[in-house]
Amino acid sequence: MMMDVDKTFVMIKPDAVRRNLIGKIITRFEEAGFKLINLKLITLSRELASKHYAEHKGKPFYNDLLAFITSGPSIAMLLQGEDVIKKVRKIVGATNPEEAQSGTIRGDFKEIPLKSVTENLIHASDSESSAKREIYLFFENNLE
Ligand code: RTP
Ligand code: MG
Repeated sequence: MMMDVDKTFVMIKPDAVRRNLIGKIITRFEEAGFKLINLKLITLSRELASKHYAEHKGKPFYNDLLAFITSGPSIAMLLQGEDVIKKVRKIVGATNPEEAQSGTIRGDFKEIPLKSVTENLIHASDSESSAKREIYLFFENNLE
């Protein structure tokens, strides 16, 4: 069994920032017992966005995804806690808000009617290697 690192990267996406949901979303992580150990407001450049979502290059939704994620400020943050990567993905919910269960962030805060799968409020690292890569990219890279 792989040991989980105790940090993950989470980003509140531009749709959630525009809809004034920052506080409500952060509250969910605090109430789950995780520590917010770093946070910044950042409008992703095309360069940073394409590095962050490199795994999706060439997919049908890639251009929409890049346009959306660079469309306004996001909140980038680091969360720390036991088994935080897996637990935060559960709190976030399924990629498609239509399929996200109630009680999850994507399930509870989705826009009705749904605009698109792309505008799904939040990103969270999906594995230990993604967490390491993304933490480096957003907080250790001095990109800006
Ligand atoms: P994320 O990386 O943002 O945490 O989301 P995820 O792991 O749940 O989903 P992933 O497959 O990594 O997709 C990345 C983001 O691309 C957008 N997307 N749009 N229109 C579509 O079919 C579609 N599929 C994915 C979403 O913004 C998704 O979060
Ligand atoms: Mg992903």
